[in-house]
Amino acid sequence: MIHKFSLIYELDAPIAIAVAAYLDSEHYIFLHKDYTDKYEVLYHEPHSKVITVRQTWKLFGISMGQVYKCEYIPPAEFRNYDVKPSPWYVPSIHHLISVSTNLQYLPSSEKDTTISILDVEIKLPFWLYPLRYMIQKGIEKLKVEKDAEDMEMIYRREKLFGRGNNSVYLANHQFMLYKDDYVKYYGNSS
Ligand SMILES: [Fe+2]
Repeated sequence: MIHKFSLIYELDAPIAIAVAAYLDSEHYIFLHKDYTDKYEVLYHEPHSKVITVRQTWKLFGISMGQVYKCEYIPPAEFRNYDVKPSPWYVPSIHHLISVSTNLQYLPSSEKDTTISILDVEIKLPFWLYPLRYMIQKGIEKLKVEKDAEDMEMIYRREKLFGRGNNSVYLANHQFMLYKDDYVKYYGNSS
């Protein structure tokens, strides 16, 4: 059975910074350590934008390893899908449900901010279907709390470098996914 939902809200950051913060995978296991404490890029498919990642997420207080595919569709769309438990023999919610997400950022028409639109699709067996709203709440909570941590990081950097300055994300030593694609759309110092 399939359960779909969307989560839409505003992030107080210019779109170039919201996208940079999402692609800046270096901060994940430090800033978001309460939610994710392992992040490893396993494979970048040649001639494609698909990256395979191994990551540990904490959902409902349980830490679960997973391998999944992610894609950046410039300028501001991100897909995660094909989630599998890792290691496969450890009991995990991902043996039971399959979650794919599509996150899109749009520039706000009124202010220099970003509208975050998360579309989630959960495939789950019929006997878990009654719990779909509980699973939805868990995913929503994770996203809201992670974004709050990101906003703290963004405000801190904004104070130091000015609003809209993306140079800190583009430093040579900074591990950012799809850096070349990002620069093509947002430039070196937006
Ligand atoms: Fe983040």
